[in-house]
Amino acid sequence: MGATKVIVGLVLFILFSCFVSAVYSFDFEPIAVKRYQKVSRGFDTKELPVLDFVGLVKRHGYPAEEHKVTTPDGYRLRFHRIPGSPSKPKARGKPVVYIQHGILASSDMFVVAGPNKDLAFILADAGYDVWLGNGRGNTYSRSHVRLPSDSPEFWRFSFHEIAVYDVSSMINYILRKTNQRTVVYVAHSMGTTIGMVLLSTLPEFNEKISVVINMATIGNWKNPRNFMKLLRAFGLYIQVTLAAARIVEVFPQTLGGGQILNGTCRDGSLFQRFCTAAIQFVSGYDPDQLDTDLLVNGLAYFPAGGSTQTLTHFYQNMISGRLQMYDHGLVKNLFSYGRIVPPLYNLTNINVPLVLIYGKGDTVATTEDSLDLIRNLRNAKAESVPHRNFTHLDFIWAKDIKHLLHDRVLEIIQRSQLTTRIENL
Ligand SMILES: *[C@@H]1O[C@H](CO)[C@@H](O)[C@H](O)[C@H]1NC(C)=O
Ligand SMILES: *[C@@H]1O[C@H](CO)[C@@H](O)[C@H](O)[C@H]1NC(C)=O
Ligand SMILES: *[C@@H]1O[C@H](CO)[C@@H](O)[C@H](O)[C@H]1NC(C)=O
Repeated sequence: MGATKVIVGLVLFILFSCFVSAVYSFDFEPIAVKRYQKVSRGFDTKELPVLDFVGLVKRHGYPAEEHKVTTPDGYRLRFHRIPGSPSKPKARGKPVVYIQHGILASSDMFVVAGPNKDLAFILADAGYDVWLGNGRGNTYSRSHVRLPSDSPEFWRFSFHEIAVYDVSSMINYILRKTNQRTVVYVAHSMGTTIGMVLLSTLPEFNEKISVVINMATIGNWKNPRNFMKLLRAFGLYIQVTLAAARIVEVFPQTLGGGQILNGTCRDGSLFQRFCTAAIQFVSGYDPDQLDTDLLVNGLAYFPAGGSTQTLTHFYQNMISGRLQMYDHGLVKNLFSYGRIVPPLYNLTNINVPLVLIYGKGDTVATTEDSLDLIRNLRNAKAESVPHRNFTHLDFIWAKDIKHLLHDRVLEIIQRSQLTTRIENL
């Protein structure tokens, strides 16, 4: 890292810290999402036009459903389904695709851009029964049978618990509900970590998932770049600060946060350059594919909340360079794992075909780490998006996402119904 990069990084980091405190001081209460019908009547013009998942989907004339499941450890999750489309109505026996969001995100991320852009709509148009998960702690899953959502105990989880309790419960529910034997598992970012943790920890899910498609895979962080490098350098400091302030929850979806992001990032804003610079520093540099209109809409739905422990877990993996279980400290490790060092996730247990798609401009899930990870997977292949600088954010909101990514994802899914041979996917 050159000196300028360090300075730019530091400035961004300080801005980022200001943003964090601003979000907290503005409006700590998670946002009340609204159904489309209510918003279109124009209640309360002061608020951002934030819809919930069902509203976001129904406004385009597609059917949408919300489902609920309670996990074995008591978390109540609300997750979503697009069972059909105007051209392919809901019907029995459709093949199921399950889409898992990444860190601080929710099912909303996959339906903000609309038909012919978002993967969820494209799959519904192609005749799939599309389900979208929501892990504990995000806007839709902030409830527990016993623990209040403002208690520290509620937030004692990382991507491990989301995989082993939440995603397993949602997939079991979906299989029961649809009478299907398997689902296709598609994930972005931390959703890919979750899938690999699930399949390696509960190997019986190799029978319940037919193929895994990882978009921007996070396994280990051996070669962090830009923002990730900065996070690694300041990780301990951030951890200590969060712990001292007893912050167990990070970045809930709030009105204040949405307003600040909208004010900073929208076209015509004086600060838009800061916004895009920060995003490029985190996610990668690809001005060609950055759609600022879509971004501003999307930033009303992201971030949607997560736990500090999730960040800590990733930080630990970044330091160790390995995909390992949460490090609770010596004593509790001995108690939880029977050893003082946390065990690795056993990736050998994964035997479903896994296609790993990486972006050559992605500074979060880098090319090097993707190719490194693939060596530890038995039945997997890696390919890049055919665009020079495809970034982490591009996997969600690139201008030409359909042509660059989603058409290929659909092709893999269609092929996976004919063959399980990884080389033919
Ligand atoms: C794409 O990435 C390359 C190499 O990383 C860089 O030199 C180039 O300027 C980038 N192009 C655009 C349009 O961002
Ligand atoms: C962003 O703010 C502008 C101006 O205040 C407002 O008109 C617009 O609806 C907001 N957009 C979103 C997506 O919230
Ligand atoms: C990982 O799983 C494989 C079988 O799936 C097993 O043979 C191997 O012993 C396991 N490795 C560890 C370290 O547990």
